[in-house]
Amino acid sequence: MSDVVKLERHDEVAIVTINSPPVNALSAAVRRGIFENVKTAAADPAVKAIVIACAGRTFVAGADITEFGKPPQSPGLSEVISEIENCSKPVIAAIHGTALGGGLELTLGCHFRVATKDAKLGLPEVKLGLLPGAGGTQRLPRAVGPELGVKMVVTGDPIGASEALKNGLIEEIVEGPASGAEAFARKVIAEKRPLRLLRNDDSKLAAARADRTIFTNAAAAANKKNRGMNAPLACAEAVSWTLDVPFDEALKKEREMFLKLVADDQSKAQRYAFFSEREAAKVQNVPEGVKPRSVERVAIIGAGTMGGGIAMSFANAGIPVTLIETGQEQLTRGLGIMQKNYEATAARGGIPADAPAKRMALITGKVGLENVKDVDLVIEAVFETMAIKKEVFTALDAYAKPGAILASNTSYLNIDEIAAVTKRPQDVLGMHFFSPANVMKLCEIVRADKTAPDALVTAVAVARKIAKVPAVVGVSDGFVGNRMLAARSKQSEKLLFEGALPQQVDAVVTKFGMPMGPFAMGDLAGLDIGWRSRKDRGITSPIADALCEAGRFGQKTGKGYYKYEAGSRVPVPDPEVEKLIDDTCRSLGLTRRAVSDQEILERMMYPMINEGARILEEKVASRPSDIDVIWLYGYGWPIYRGGPMFYADQVGLKQIVERLQFYAKQTNDPSLEPAALLKKLADEGKTFASLAKG
Ligand code: 3HC
Ligand code: NAI
Repeated sequence: MSDVVKLERHDEVAIVTINSPPVNALSAAVRRGIFENVKTAAADPAVKAIVIACAGRTFVAGADITEFGKPPQSPGLSEVISEIENCSKPVIAAIHGTALGGGLELTLGCHFRVATKDAKLGLPEVKLGLLPGAGGTQRLPRAVGPELGVKMVVTGDPIGASEALKNGLIEEIVEGPASGAEAFARKVIAEKRPLRLLRNDDSKLAAARADRTIFTNAAAAANKKNRGMNAPLACAEAVSWTLDVPFDEALKKEREMFLKLVADDQSKAQRYAFFSEREAAKVQNVPEGVKPRSVERVAIIGAGTMGGGIAMSFANAGIPVTLIETGQEQLTRGLGIMQKNYEATAARGGIPADAPAKRMALITGKVGLENVKDVDLVIEAVFETMAIKKEVFTALDAYAKPGAILASNTSYLNIDEIAAVTKRPQDVLGMHFFSPANVMKLCEIVRADKTAPDALVTAVAVARKIAKVPAVVGVSDGFVGNRMLAARSKQSEKLLFEGALPQQVDAVVTKFGMPMGPFAMGDLAGLDIGWRSRKDRGITSPIADALCEAGRFGQKTGKGYYKYEAGSRVPVPDPEVEKLIDDTCRSLGLTRRAVSDQEILERMMYPMINEGARILEEKVASRPSDIDVIWLYGYGWPIYRGGPMFYADQVGLKQIVERLQFYAKQTNDPSLEPAALLKKLADEGKTFASLAKG
């Protein structure tokens, strides 16, 4: 008998308990344990009902993702589920925490399900580029109806216990999962309740079978946000089989589709992203056992675009913050914007109607930096000027209590230099959030020269607590993300001089799967910022400068690289811009040429990858997967392409080196020469992934 699954008997109720930390994933040993113990209990004449429960923090969180791609081991999950479903005694699932993927499918083979009130139930396989492969696409719609069923399978979003109860996915909400399920089992025995086998229950399918548009409309709505991904379409198709394919045949088709998706590059990329995100939270090069400091009170300095968003992220996680400004007017304006922001989200149904008031109540506005004296963590988000940052950190050093962590949200500035104005450089680091900070999940945690290990792990822990994805980086101009972005921006700008148009470049980048191209992004951020900074530094960029001189600052002036209809954010190509580019090039004596989409793609992606390689060489990032996490969560890199370094491995590093060398020559641009690390890996026929394996 396996150690990870135990069987005990409380009179006539057998309890099968899965105990396989951390998340009770369905490894081969767990599957075998469930299979054998259910069989044993079923054969025991003293047993009248069987409960399947889990020890630890959660019910089964799914198939064991680490087993994918390895040779299958018996019994398969579907076999385990059939054993349960075909059991002549009632089997009850006792759910707490999260019943996800194969975990929920396991419960769908049970005849009854009960759950604790904070439990979440879902089929998130689609988020890994998969579809539920153990009957979930067929049994869930039979439990909750095809409309909610297709929504859950296609979006992968879980539902809570009360929604599950309302929709017939669970029978009862219970206090303790195992004890509640046991009490429920005794009721079933006493009432001689007939077993509910979802495979035989088509009652909820009747309406959609009679009128197929019920299903197709729900599937289309669920698929609305799908950009270029294979799995959501496969998921919707599989759920549609509930309407016209016999159950056993549909299970076979589901299995075939699952195997096809597991082997697909998109799913490989999405599973890589899942593990990379978790890997990024494990800080390297800190002494073993280093513990985070306790953080109970937090202050944010600056109630502007970023400070406001960061404060909202804390409030969203239920953590009170003090928001500090230079004057009452700035404070009132900042708080007003946050309030409006929350109200707009509530109006869209994104948060409950009472959430804006509750969350704003967690944010206390104050004027003056002396208000940091009781806090454990300060996050500074004032203007991006070194002199101002130094002034603020000198004051923070004077006011903050010993041991408080002082973080800067600077996008580019040197944290070592900021830390040096304090007497506690060990407590200073960067926490670089991305705009809009209440939405974007990435937080680059910048480790400066003197940052103490416990300060570093504290920042990582805090970021996780407010539902951000942390990635530790070193001090460098633009850290990791913006530094790589700068390599891309340089090329997008050059492409305009050579013959491409903003709309052509943006189309290639969005077709690749990025949410926006560089020029639409420039219009959104405002072109005047870069213009002013170029002027300060005495540099020019003839096309971008000409746009600004013509008053084209981007969306805020209704025109930039594109034009915008009043009140619209949709970029419309503008012949005036085309003329401006042509005129500028002519005045510089440049001849424009036709630039192919393939060249644009290579010149947008490969220089970034090259910069990523330099970042690894310089140890500004310690793992290629950290760079990928930064692009996935900070810049909207399409998850099904894994991230720039993962993508590079798929293209092949040799190919990338050759193309970079070609463009370095063609455009006379030494910055495009391949980085030493990239070249070395390519010469040795290796990948970036090989670095992680040591
Ligand atoms: N398989 C293997 N390992 C898993 C796992 C899984 N399904 N789910 C989580 N883990 C591991 C994580 O990698 C992490 O390992 P680490 O500590 O070594 O880094 C550890 O469990 C804890 O995970 P989290 O850090 O994510 O813990 P949280 O408490 O934040 O979240 C969770 C828990 C909500 C369960 C989250 O881990 C999660 O969403 N897991 C994935 C769920 C999922 O996608 N299930 C579907 C799998 S596919 C499937 O079931 C196919 C089937 O249809 C045939
Ligand atoms: P912002 O101009 O919107 O806000 C700055 C706020 O700081 C203003 O409200 C100002 O009154 C306040 N402030 C200035 N000096 C102060 C002081 N001494 N004490 C208290 N408050 C003070 O600027 P934004 O965009 O929010 O940027 C803030 C920081 O975040 C900058 O370092 C920027 O580089 C960084 N950042 C900006 C991103 C963006 O997309 N806007 C993205 C990531 C980082």
